[in-house]
Amino acid sequence: PSLPPVVFHWFPFIGSAISYGNDPLNFFFKCREKYGDVFTFILFGRKVTVALGAKGNNFVLGGKSTAFSAEDAYTHFTTPVFGKDVVYDVPNEVFMEQKKFVKVGLTTENFRSYVGMIEDEVDEFMKTDAAFLIYQMNDINEWGRFDATDVMAQITILTASRTLQGKEVRSGLDKSFSQLYNDLDGGFTPLNFMFPNLPLESYRRRDEAHKKMSQFYVDIIQKRKQFGDDEHDMIAALRTQKYRDGRPLPDHEIAHIMIALLMAGQHTSSATGSWAMLHLANSPETQEALYREQVENFGTPDGKLRSMTYEEFRKLPILDSVIRETLRIHPPIHSIMRKVRSDVPVPPTLAAPSENGTYVVPKGHFVLASAAVSQVDPIIWSNPEVFDPTRWSDPEGVAAQAFDTYADENGEKIDYGFGAVSKGTDSPYQPFGAGRHRCIGEQFAYLQLGVVLTTIIRRVELRLETDSVPEQNYHTMITMPKKPRNICFRRRNF
Ligand code: HEM
Repeated sequence: PSLPPVVFHWFPFIGSAISYGNDPLNFFFKCREKYGDVFTFILFGRKVTVALGAKGNNFVLGGKSTAFSAEDAYTHFTTPVFGKDVVYDVPNEVFMEQKKFVKVGLTTENFRSYVGMIEDEVDEFMKTDAAFLIYQMNDINEWGRFDATDVMAQITILTASRTLQGKEVRSGLDKSFSQLYNDLDGGFTPLNFMFPNLPLESYRRRDEAHKKMSQFYVDIIQKRKQFGDDEHDMIAALRTQKYRDGRPLPDHEIAHIMIALLMAGQHTSSATGSWAMLHLANSPETQEALYREQVENFGTPDGKLRSMTYEEFRKLPILDSVIRETLRIHPPIHSIMRKVRSDVPVPPTLAAPSENGTYVVPKGHFVLASAAVSQVDPIIWSNPEVFDPTRWSDPEGVAAQAFDTYADENGEKIDYGFGAVSKGTDSPYQPFGAGRHRCIGEQFAYLQLGVVLTTIIRRVELRLETDSVPEQNYHTMITMPKKPRNICFRRRNF
């Protein structure tokens, strides 16, 4: 056995940190040309072995948790923010139980009640926020403008707190909670990921904000013990849960899970919403199709649009394909990492140094999967850089072309079915990850994004201020649009 090839670099400790940090996709595609699908690069002293393609995704995400550990890769970064005894601060079996508890709060019944709440929040935001002044002035001929990401960041936290987080958090947003959130968020950056402990003001503020926020949630839980729960939120769900050994969740664990969910859902959804709006603004046809879908399904005889139910929401193929396509080109998380706990051989079908040999990824390395690469890989997708939601509904599109091409190349035919994509660890499309660490927020994110986007599209027409959709900024934890990212809007006449 031999080690995977190491990416050439000039400086020992820094390694390829700069090229990876500035543009990971470009870096990965270039390395693939030189070294193939499996290679190791140096990232501030860490040895990171990348496995590309659907098979690479399968290798990393389908790997055993005893060999590839998420907690060893992430805890230094997440525990100061989320807090003790949850997520990556506990052994994986315990976290798996915690994920099940969270699922109890993500039921269809809860989602039914969220549709109207999300619509209300967006409506209220557009009626009051300064970014929508023109809209409020009721002038249908004037164009106003807003920053896509600024607006989506606010709408995302407003709608998440109104629904999952609960009314105490929602009302806290108008007061001290926002500042705590911002301070905590300032400790959730690539710098914090690379260097767990630096004597910086942002680190101190992060720790301070964690303590206060944890106490904020504990206070809510205490009050609810006295006065009862709101039926449909996550705190209510978590309060009913017990570990297999019969132990209920202590207050601080509920608090820390709530912080983890807040952080997991905020930037991911808000980035996706920003990208979706930017693409819609750049594509009048897609925008019109999305608006038509609303009118056809929810138009009333008096020319208005009625609210939709959760069941109706789930049957809107154009909306669905807009979100899918946005997540294909802009998956918020470009790199998924695990720390290697014991030597793991690389399957020869993924990469082999010679006919019979195998590579081994040794204990102490990190492994990295990047769906961001397989989701825009020209070997798999036709016109991968083009935002084209119709590829998801076109019988000649994704199912027929992309995945068959992929399957044929590897000599085996995988039948993904019309418009459907495998959810397995070997899929080239996995914006929500795969395997045991797969996202549990997918349905909620689709609901939140879907209702936010349609509520906006029902009210205003969008146009991009610039010639093209902004470039991706990889310097943030979650891939964001670079500035300028202004969207012009005009009130619809309905
Ligand atoms: C895990 C993406 C929204 C909660 C993940 C992972 C990805 C992901 C790629 C896998 C991480 C890994 O394997 O290391 C996304 C995207 C979202 C989104 C693209 C929105 C568009 C949410 C929301 C929540 C959430 C709204 C909470 C309500 C979680 C949790 C995990 C997870 C609990 C499990 C982590 C683990 O098992 O290690 N997400 N997420 N996510 N996500 Fe999401």
